[in-house]
Amino acid sequence: MTPVDLRSDTVTRPTPQMLQAMVDAPVGDDVYGEDPTVNRLEAVAAERAGKEAALFVPSGTMGNQIALRIHTRPGDEVLAHEDSHPLNWEAAGAAVIAGVQIRPLPGERGLIRPDTVSRAIRAEDPHIAPATLLSVEDTANRGGGTVHPLFLLDALSQVAKERGLATHMDGARAFNAVVASGQSLAERTRGYDTVSFCLSKGLGCAVGSMLCGPRDLIHVGRRVRKMLGGGMRQAGFLAAGGLYALEHHVERLTDDHARAKRLAEGLRRVGYTVDDPDTNLVFIGDLPDAPALSRAAAEHGVRFSAVGPTSARLALHLDVDDAGLSHTLDTLERLFPGS
Ligand SMILES: Cc1ncc(COP(=O)(O)O)c(C=O)c1O
Repeated sequence: MTPVDLRSDTVTRPTPQMLQAMVDAPVGDDVYGEDPTVNRLEAVAAERAGKEAALFVPSGTMGNQIALRIHTRPGDEVLAHEDSHPLNWEAAGAAVIAGVQIRPLPGERGLIRPDTVSRAIRAEDPHIAPATLLSVEDTANRGGGTVHPLFLLDALSQVAKERGLATHMDGARAFNAVVASGQSLAERTRGYDTVSFCLSKGLGCAVGSMLCGPRDLIHVGRRVRKMLGGGMRQAGFLAAGGLYALEHHVERLTDDHARAKRLAEGLRRVGYTVDDPDTNLVFIGDLPDAPALSRAAAEHGVRFSAVGPTSARLALHLDVDDAGLSHTLDTLERLFPGS
């Protein structure tokens, strides 16, 4: 049995068809704006997101960091969920690159409530860092791969706009939300000035993310990308993977979601504490020793991440098929604590 790697949806390898598309890509120097494949990917991404322009960036982290930088000034405050990626897993980039502080907001399953945003925006005062940006994560990774209902996305952006804040969506897994909700990316991001989404997660690319937004902001973002060392040359080889993924790997995300549901149901039958997943991420809670379970499973060829002392995350993706799912369920049944 080949090992099953559920640590993240980032571990996928390009399919032979995707690789072929990459090899065949016409390329040029993208820093000169001359890579036709990057230009096409940026046009397609902007269109999908319903925005004027898009920027191809090496990672979701860089997409978020450029967004923070172009929406704010040093000394500003950014509102985001307490479990959000820029606050927890971007190496304090917000403080270093944009010079902002992130105010962590609570909320069930990774979702912030609009009244929480309202209350967090404080009156003008020389003591206080002005909140100038709301960043919303969809799907909410640590919230459980949660899909925001559209009315909530709209309500959050409306509160932010009414109070003069810009809005960014960290849509690293935005297409998981798109297929789970049946709504288009443009619909789901209509209240957001910018959205970043990853090609390198469920969509199965080797590298790359997109930052989409208004033309003038993306223009500034292009300079920030250069500043951060993210200006790539014949990046069309990578962009071709992105174009392939947007055409062939979006609808199939429903397969990952269906397997995630089967995994959650199977684990619950065994006795594990598991919530019903909205998308491709399955979280197990109440484990006596999550790192020990993860180590034991790895010995049986099933890899997943302990995300805390008592919890673990299993990510379904392109490289996990039905056989991998069965092997995971068998292994975790055998290793059920106390059995
Ligand atoms: C919600 C979210 N945003 C941003 C990122 C960053 O993406 P990358 O790993 O490409 O920097 C991740 C990565 O897992 C993520 O889960």
